[in-house]
Amino acid sequence: MDAVLRALVRSDPVLLVLLRGLELYDGGETYGHSWRVARGVLHVARQVGWPTSEQMTLTRAALLHDVGKLFVYRKIVTKPGGFTEEEFAEIRQHPRFGFEMVRMVDEAAGRILVAHHDCGWHPPQQSRRKYPRSDERRRNERRTIPRRPRQERRDRDRRQDLGIHDPQRLTLALADIFDALASQRWYKRAWADTAIRAELIERAPVLTEVADWLIAARAVLQESVPTMHEIARASSAMMGDAPFHPVNGC
Ligand SMILES: [Fe+2]
Ligand SMILES: [Fe+2]
Repeated sequence: MDAVLRALVRSDPVLLVLLRGLELYDGGETYGHSWRVARGVLHVARQVGWPTSEQMTLTRAALLHDVGKLFVYRKIVTKPGGFTEEEFAEIRQHPRFGFEMVRMVDEAAGRILVAHHDCGWHPPQQSRRKYPRSDERRRNERRTIPRRPRQERRDRDRRQDLGIHDPQRLTLALADIFDALASQRWYKRAWADTAIRAELIERAPVLTEVADWLIAARAVLQESVPTMHEIARASSAMMGDAPFHPVNGC
């Protein structure tokens, strides 16, 4: 799987630059996450048997799905503990920022990644608030709806949110959630397979196969990620080994 990703990145200067930017952004956390999510979508795309061109578009969308965070202050994204409402509102903009960047070179990939959080899920660190569709009116409506219709309505809303007619969007959304749950972070442990499966199926009850494929490949998907220096060095000398020192105030 990594051979395909490396070849894709090496062949595309836009990917090289943006992924290197992500790697520098927060010590490699968002870059590593993006790489693992790309492994996940590529794995699912192969299981489904999508054409190679669609696999590459989806993989490019996965590699860049969080690139919009480059427009969010690093001190917010890397802040320990929870976010304020203002900070959370800032972070919620990153799919839109990413779309506006990526559409310049790949409209299809941009349209896939712009919806990568449209699944009502949110990292535990952030109190599991809806992401990014915080809709007070809908929450209030739910309180008055009997349990069974409420569940059906929620499932229908989620299918619409996830673009169930666009399974590649859904695949990216699920691979994104999968990596967040399967990875250990400073604020949480990695989740067990059974808990991850329940969470993914809760989000997308009609696509249990995708959850099972991701979980079955967990060990491979979670392997360590090559650095951008390693990727670039293999094909050219375009990147040196000099350490990067951010300059404050510039
Ligand atoms: Fe994201
Ligand atoms: Fe993500």
